Amino acid sequence: MPLIQLIYKSSATNQFSECQLAPILTSTAKNNEVNQITGMLLYREGCFIQVLEGGTTQVQELMMRIKADPRNESINVLGTQAMNSRDFPTWCMGSHLASDSDLLTHPSFVDFFSDSFDSHKAHIKYGAALIALKAFANKLAL
Ligand SMILES: Cc1cc2nc3c(=O)[nH]c(=O)nc-3n(C[C@H](O)[C@H](O)[C@H](O)COP(=O)(O)O)c2cc1C
Repeated sequence: MPLIQLIYKSSATNQFSECQLAPILTSTAKNNEVNQITGMLLYREGCFIQVLEGGTTQVQELMMRIKADPRNESINVLGTQAMNSRDFPTWCMGSHLASDSDLLTHPSFVDFFSDSFDSHKAHIKYGAALIALKAFANKLAL
């Protein structure tokens, strides 16, 4: 099955607390297991960043559901790439609320969460986002 990886950024329509994120993640884990989607969802101050990986059709269909989901808006796809193997094989959907100290550890991430994020440079930022998302996945796995 051809695999793709997609990273997007979106804005939450309401500010979420950790417990409000939980319902998103409950149906997500179940659906993603069925659809063999893996990845990581980060949230900070009204901003989501998510990496999705799986079969092309499954990722595209999920992206359509997320775009139609009233809990987020202004979806900005940073990019997609074909994969031979997954970067997040063990995460049905890891999730993390990025703290101030996380941003200090991953300064390149400050940019993604700022209002001045430049979508024209999104393709340049794909690689930086992926590095930070992987670092969070490694931290959560400890
Ligand atoms: C930021 C964000 C990320 C989401 N990520 C996923 C996901 O990885 N997998 C998933 O199935 N649903 C995800 N959802 C939920 C979908 O938009 C949609 O509500 C869900 O897939 C519908 O599932 P259901 O028909 O089982 O209720 C996400 C929603 C938001 C707002």
